[in-house]
Amino acid sequence: MESKVCNIPSLLSFILILLRHCARAQANGDCPADGRTWVPFGQSCYHFVHGEEDVAKSYTIEKAKDMCQGFALLTVRNAEVNDFIVQYSPKVWKDNVNIWLGLYYDSDDDQFKWSDDSVVSFKNWVEGGSADWDIPVMDKCVALHSTTGKWENISCSEKRENGVVCEAAQKPVVIRKKNGSPLLSALVILSVIVILGVSAVIWFFHQRNSSGSSLLPSFEYHPPFRSPSADQTCLVEAEELAETS
Ligand SMILES: *[C@@H]1O[C@H](CO)[C@@H](O)[C@H](O)[C@H]1NC(C)=O
Repeated sequence: MESKVCNIPSLLSFILILLRHCARAQANGDCPADGRTWVPFGQSCYHFVHGEEDVAKSYTIEKAKDMCQGFALLTVRNAEVNDFIVQYSPKVWKDNVNIWLGLYYDSDDDQFKWSDDSVVSFKNWVEGGSADWDIPVMDKCVALHSTTGKWENISCSEKRENGVVCEAAQKPVVIRKKNGSPLLSALVILSVIVILGVSAVIWFFHQRNSSGSSLLPSFEYHPPFRSPSADQTCLVEAEELAETS
């Protein structure tokens, strides 16, 4: 009997551990799980290419795109993301690096566009502008200075910039919650019911066995689990509570 009672809390804590694990998996699950470090920020996850991946330290924009392995190069659509990149970069690189932005020059529309063809609304050009008038528009790429956050026009073909940041969209959390939570709660409630049911059955059979084996002398040494006097005390207390309230 005693050991069975002890099993219920341990089972419950097992469920809690499972739950916590599920919650963590959900939090990480919003970023790609490809063994690389993805930093969630806002609507996206960012992978700063460095360490063993970054032996060459300097990449053409084509090589930079390759290194992102199917994910996009960095897009900076607002000041918050621009600040985030500036703040996070020192954790990855000691000095300034020029990070490729996922921008291309659309000569039909005569403007830069993000790699998903969306137009550029937030811009953070370096002041004073252009030593870059001689870059033909078709060869215009943009790099972000990791220490200042300012953007610079550079030649796509000639320049090798030394920072690569890849970006992946986070899976929308709202939809996840809608699908995930009721199922999770149902599972928890179900497992609690199952555990309580199983314990009740075990308890029931134990009680039957105990009374059946009451002829055994050993039974004498084990007082019943609930003594009637204890139950009475509870009743008296409950009555007192009912009267005072
Ligand atoms: C970079 O090029 C774009 C498009 O030609 C231009 O609008 C922008 O002012 C240039 N930025 C700098 C800092 O020169």
